[in-house]
Amino acid sequence: MKKIVVISGAGISAESGISTFRDSDGLWRKHRFEDLASPKGWKNNPELVLEFYNQRRKQLFDVHENAAHKALKLLEEKYKVVVITQNVDDLHERAGSSNVIHLHGELKKARSTADERLVYELKDWALNMGDKCELGSQLRPHIVWFGESVPMFDVALKEMHDADIILVIGTSLVVYPAASLIHCGPPNAKIFIIDPKAQDFNNDKIISIKQKAGTAVPELVEKLLNNNYE
Ligand code: OAD
Repeated sequence: MKKIVVISGAGISAESGISTFRDSDGLWRKHRFEDLASPKGWKNNPELVLEFYNQRRKQLFDVHENAAHKALKLLEEKYKVVVITQNVDDLHERAGSSNVIHLHGELKKARSTADERLVYELKDWALNMGDKCELGSQLRPHIVWFGESVPMFDVALKEMHDADIILVIGTSLVVYPAASLIHCGPPNAKIFIIDPKAQDFNNDKIISIKQKAGTAVPELVEKLLNNNYE
């Protein structure tokens, strides 16, 4: 069975109604990421940080997986599929993808500020000051903030090494180390980049599809299922 590794970013969830970060209406155009997604921001104003992620978590209960997430699940009929996502939403899981690695954490989880191994599923959208772990320390969002290490990176990197096909969907590829993964597959792996703003590559192993994920992913998945993608 051939192996497909999917590297997804905010663009795959855009058509579900979740904002990206760097498009004209993106989250980091309206907010300073230093205030909301960094250890310093958390130290300066934890209430503000909790509220930002509470609003994003609340939104997650109102949105649905879209045609792109659903199509990726279908690939599992014929391929071993691993999804490496930078997204903190759970739309890949809701679409049924069996093997999802979250590089930047998960919105529906909280973790201890005393021991990062203590991670908890949140039943509701609100995480508040005073919500504590079993050690008595404040809980924080289970998100990898700027300046923090990316514990799942090594797991993701290992998955790249035997990829036959790599699908890069809806990511600006500007945040490292996530962006470096695209270069970590075997030299003969075929790479498809699906993003309306995808770069052009002078390389017949990298194919840029400059369309929205909701249209382009189901079309490409159909071709992949019919072995008709060369
Ligand atoms: P960005 O906002 O940087 O990039 C989103 C990409 O999605 C852009 O290249 C868009 O062109 C593309 N896009 C928009 N709509 C699309 C659609 N319908 N179909 C396909 N592509 C579309 O988001 P990421 O690359 O995911 O980290 O950002 C990486 C990380 O930066 C995030 O995980 C987040 C952020 O800071 C943390 O918060 C830790």
